[in-house]
Amino acid sequence: MAQTAPPRIDTGQQHEVAPVRRRPRQLPWPLNIYQSAIGKKYAMAISGIGLLGFVVVHMIGNLHLYEGPVQVHEYGEALRDLGGHLAPRTFLLWLMRLGLMGMFVIHIHSAYSLSRMSLKADDSYAGKRNYIAADFASRTMRWTGPIVLLYLLFHLADLTWGWWLGDEYVRGDIYHNVVESMSSLPVAIIYIVANVALAVHIFHGTWSMFQSLGLNNPKFNDLRRGIAGGLAALILIGNLSFPIAVQAGLINEDNRSVPVGEFNTDSGHTAPATPGNNTAAPAAPGESNA
Ligand code: HEM
Repeated sequence: MAQTAPPRIDTGQQHEVAPVRRRPRQLPWPLNIYQSAIGKKYAMAISGIGLLGFVVVHMIGNLHLYEGPVQVHEYGEALRDLGGHLAPRTFLLWLMRLGLMGMFVIHIHSAYSLSRMSLKADDSYAGKRNYIAADFASRTMRWTGPIVLLYLLFHLADLTWGWWLGDEYVRGDIYHNVVESMSSLPVAIIYIVANVALAVHIFHGTWSMFQSLGLNNPKFNDLRRGIAGGLAALILIGNLSFPIAVQAGLINEDNRSVPVGEFNTDSGHTAPATPGNNTAAPAAPGESNA
């Protein structure tokens, strides 16, 4: 039996409407989880925990500066020698560096794409923004993030690559490089301002990490605030202490027990003895300062 199409009622309206937003292509598991907002939040929270771990360990390691040039140098050597005789020198350190870089990329990418998602979202049904609840730290998250990123680039150029110190930079002598760098007042101010921004970022980041991981029962709000505030304060006090101690002359080179750049450590590795050798003999990838 021949079928006849139902009669079309002409309402005078156009029915073929293009979709508002094209659906993104579904990626395979586990990348498809990352395509959702909740997946991105998880990725941001987990990479944030890793980065936070690095910042805490880095700050504690830097406390060796209070002991002296030899002790901080030995700490750097110990990092390069991680794995003992079981792995080539600097192998584990490079593995950790790669992990750190990976977490950094994930953290920035998830933050960027989440903020794009929320900008695109239709908030016509949303109530007025509650700026009392969205406190100072959360509103400044978009500022403190880029400040910390710029600071990190400055910091690597300063103490890892020795770009600004020129001839004063001595590869392998961490103590000397820190003193040379932070005894300049503008540089000390950059370190202080950036580390205040980092503390604000860590406070809010830790607070919202609990939210992202679903650990946000109001019963634990005081504990959440305590952990977030405690971590931010610990890192702030530790990191601000270095530029302040150098400026105050508490960390200085007046009574060095060894000449600049000359160390004889248990590992048998000695750092080059002449200042400014960063240009004369660029280090092999694994030999850069830890
Ligand atoms: C005032 C506080 C800080 C001091 C005194 C300090 C000191 C140093 C020094 C001396 C180095 C070079 C180590 C070497 O040459 O062997 C270094 C490397 C580094 N710092 Fe910091 N740092 C501070 C804060 C930070 C913060 C807050 C971050 C992250 C946001 C950070 C991230 C790094 C990274 C990623 C490296 C390279 C590590 C590597 O090459 O394995 N630092 N820091």
